[in-house]
Amino acid sequence: MWVFGYGSLIWKVDFPFEEKRIGFIKGYSRRFWQGSTDHRGVPGKPGRVVTLVEDPDGCVWGVAYKLPTGREQEVKSYLDHREKGGYEVISVPFHPVPSIAPSPSQTLLYIGSQDNPDYLGPAPLEQIAYQIVHATGPSGENTEYLFELADAVRNFLPEDLDAHLFSLETLVREQLEEVNEMCRNNSA
Ligand code: BEZ
Repeated sequence: MWVFGYGSLIWKVDFPFEEKRIGFIKGYSRRFWQGSTDHRGVPGKPGRVVTLVEDPDGCVWGVAYKLPTGREQEVKSYLDHREKGGYEVISVPFHPVPSIAPSPSQTLLYIGSQDNPDYLGPAPLEQIAYQIVHATGPSGENTEYLFELADAVRNFLPEDLDAHLFSLETLVREQLEEVNEMCRNNSA
């Protein structure tokens, strides 16, 4: 059993795996359109985390993990619990790069579809950035989630020129700088 990570599974690898492969899936784009009330926000003040949205021209890079043989269900149950906030599991074709064997042709992935209760959907990027700057939850600040993901994609998946992700990173850094500036001016 292989699971494709395109979000926190890229940088928060707190589960055992046997092998991993870099690669991409087609027909989707990564978007911060899923609300988080259990990790990076709280009920009434959700954070924003990634999901995949259907996009005929889209391509999302990520990491496919082979779950340990004989422990697939145990590890999958751990991931199901970790990612329980509105995500369902689907199976998609996977394109490993380089295409070396053994690699899966299909992988599972977690997706928050439009009809899940935590789905927030699109909004102007400045608004999404504002929400990320001001959200925090049991797993920590929403900004940490965004910065960890942007760093991981930049460093390990440089082919993924995710304009949505990197524009948000820039906007969030600018908004944080403005908040810090206001703080410095008020304490002078
Ligand atoms: C991931 O692939 O990293 C992932 C994204 C959203 C929910 C769960 C996992």
